[in-house]
Amino acid sequence: MEQLRIPGPTPCPNEVLQAMSRQMINHRGPQFGQMLNDITAKLKQVFQTKSDVFLLTGSGTGGLEAAIVNTLSPGDKVLSVSIGVFGERFGAIAGQFGAEVIPLRFEWGTAADADAVRQALEAEPKIKAVLVTHNETSTGVTNDLEAISSVVKEFDKLLLVDAISSLGSINLPVDDWHCDVVVTGSQKGWMIPPGLAMVSVSQEAWQAQAKARMPRFYWDFTQAKSYLEKATAQTPWTPAISVVFGLSVSLDMMLKEGLANIFARHARVARATRNGAKSLGLSLFAEERHASNTVTAVAAADGLDTKKMLKILREEYKVILSGGQQKLDGKIFRIGHLGWVTEDDIKAVISAIKVVLPQAGFRSS
Ligand SMILES: Cc1ncc(COP(=O)(O)O)c(C=O)c1O
Repeated sequence: MEQLRIPGPTPCPNEVLQAMSRQMINHRGPQFGQMLNDITAKLKQVFQTKSDVFLLTGSGTGGLEAAIVNTLSPGDKVLSVSIGVFGERFGAIAGQFGAEVIPLRFEWGTAADADAVRQALEAEPKIKAVLVTHNETSTGVTNDLEAISSVVKEFDKLLLVDAISSLGSINLPVDDWHCDVVVTGSQKGWMIPPGLAMVSVSQEAWQAQAKARMPRFYWDFTQAKSYLEKATAQTPWTPAISVVFGLSVSLDMMLKEGLANIFARHARVARATRNGAKSLGLSLFAEERHASNTVTAVAAADGLDTKKMLKILREEYKVILSGGQQKLDGKIFRIGHLGWVTEDDIKAVISAIKVVLPQAGFRSS
């Protein structure tokens, strides 16, 4: 069997694949309405929130755009905390819609420093919102969102969170950490294909939404809420029904496993990945104390040609891993370990890497 170990899309369990092959149903009929209500209630458990949660059809980036356009107006100042490719993207979306973006960048491979966030908020009192990536997939780093959130809330600012590659895999208690809009994507820890973004919206975010003037149509949370609250629950626009069938099954699997067990499994699998890489003489790209439990970035060193390694792994061993993005192209490779993954999967990946390393020029020092 192929080992698809990129940080999303991730493999789907057979139960999910079977559910997704069902015949279409009326997305404005009672069967879909009941399923949508049931899914929404279960999503709230995984988000650990009592606030609104919406199912949007689109990829994660669509969810990030929704977070921006529903809470901000052109000219608003936002602090964009960035530790990699996806932090940059979140800031770029805000800029594209006319926000005045104040970047707060940290070296790739490290985590954001909450004290630096405090200094930035002290320096510019007019900042309205803080954008932060919980888990930076491009570098394999998880930010200390709890610490960042407590600083952001000292200053009473809105906190918009990209949790696309963390929610459902790494603990993120949305209400306890006072996150205003949190975005995740179906192809990550949810064990289903791409096609859905899920977002939570706090009371403070709704207050901002009432005044926000960035253009919005498809992503309007007011529409999502009014359709969800109809006598027959709906989404405003035609949803990715097959992916919703999959989510209905995967959520049951997740709640049966239990959130604490899911987080512990991801921590174990991540540890096995890091230890496995180190046992081969490789070094980790991310600072280990902030290393992600959903994706591990491994540094290319000692002659290792990562592109050659990825090609041999793919063609000869059916192990699919990711390279580095943008300035990390050729400098790292990444192993995704989120969603439907066990320690045995990682053992298979590490064994294949071990065989291929010398063929890809690696000389263990
Ligand atoms: C942290 C993070 N943010 C944003 C995205 C973009 O999501 P999508 O490709 O679903 O639009 C990704 C996907 O790789 C991600 O990992």
